Amino acid sequence: MSDGTKNHQFKVNAVNGLSDKLDTVAKDASDGEYLYAKAETLSKLAELKQSNPILEDSIKHYSEVLALNNPTVTDNLFKMAAREAARLMKFRGWTGKAAIIQKQLVDRFPDELEHRHELGVYLLTMGNNAEAKDVFNNVLTVDPMDAFAKAHLGFILKSEALPANDTKVLEQAVDLMRVGVVESQGQGQDLQGLFYFHLGDGLRRLKRSEEADEIFQLAVDREKFPSFWQRSLYNEPNLKAQPIWTAEELRHVHEFNLIKAKWEDIRQEALDILKAHLYVTEGENLKDTGHWAQYDLFVRGKRFKNNCDRAPVTCTLIEAMPEVASNRRGQVKFSVMQAGTHVHPHTGPTNCRLRAHLGLDIPEGSEEKTSLRVADKFLTWSNGEIFVFDDSFDHEVWHENDLGKSRVILIFDLWHPDLSPRQKATLPAI
Ligand code: OGA
Ligand code: MN
Repeated sequence: MSDGTKNHQFKVNAVNGLSDKLDTVAKDASDGEYLYAKAETLSKLAELKQSNPILEDSIKHYSEVLALNNPTVTDNLFKMAAREAARLMKFRGWTGKAAIIQKQLVDRFPDELEHRHELGVYLLTMGNNAEAKDVFNNVLTVDPMDAFAKAHLGFILKSEALPANDTKVLEQAVDLMRVGVVESQGQGQDLQGLFYFHLGDGLRRLKRSEEADEIFQLAVDREKFPSFWQRSLYNEPNLKAQPIWTAEELRHVHEFNLIKAKWEDIRQEALDILKAHLYVTEGENLKDTGHWAQYDLFVRGKRFKNNCDRAPVTCTLIEAMPEVASNRRGQVKFSVMQAGTHVHPHTGPTNCRLRAHLGLDIPEGSEEKTSLRVADKFLTWSNGEIFVFDDSFDHEVWHENDLGKSRVILIFDLWHPDLSPRQKATLPAI
């Protein structure tokens, strides 16, 4: 028998065994243990058969355990049923229902703060920041030192502070996140890199760069980022990490030459679209001063047909590079910056892509005040030239000349060359 067939036979036996077990457990619907055992069996069965209806039946039985209000449901059984119900609901995409389960845990065990922590996280994942804020504020009324709640509350306040550039709220956010992050480990909490990332970012926006660097270093010591300069949060292991790459290292010399040979046509398309006012203002609060806008052609491996209709030469050239066109962790876009623009230091989400810039309309004499810093190195654009950097490294952009002319480039992302074909085919989009 081949391994595949053996494996299949094993699964069939397992499913049959579970089905038999279902028939033999004592049938008493008012007994917590019985309902729990049935729910658990259904859950295993659902996994083996990859069946959503069975999964939903399992969720129903776990929920029935929670609804039973009798002594057969011990505190421990209630917790186990709630945990499983919430886990399966989340897996099924029912985050709202999972949050309701989590609320039942909070109601039954008001002193066990971990249930409130988890509820707050569910609410945040659902984008319900207002309710999440209430949950974490409540935790702090119970335990004013709770690091987890402080970090999360600070994170929410930061997202409120940025759009309006509200320094006061940002200061509060940073104070909360800092206590949270610094003290979390002492309290046995393991906060994600995300909090270190936003704390450092908040400190830099408040011009407290030295403190920011201390936090980044702390994050590296606690293995939250790959390195001091490389701060992406979605990383694959063992990819060569360096801020700047050459076409030779990437083995794309030929393809880059094809693009460079057509740079003036690409520029024409970028400028015509600019004239038609079709660029969209950057919406991630990364811009400090000035104006920065983009026009998407490919996003997460998908070609934007309507936008490509206005840039046929560019999109055809990109399509000839499957590495770029199908990159689910990257984008292809025109980027325009008006004179007087500064983009805050920032970091991309993943180490799986490398970012190429093709200079299209670079005002002459602007080299001094128009540049990109990546880690501790500086790059400048030239018309018709390409450079490649790794945007998982901290980078910052200026176009601050006083000539009054905008800077236009084409940005296109490549897969990191150390990724295997399998990784490129299966890594989830970002
Ligand atoms: C980037 C970036 C700004 C620009 O490509 O990641 O921040 O348009 N670029 O120069
Ligand atoms: Mn960037």
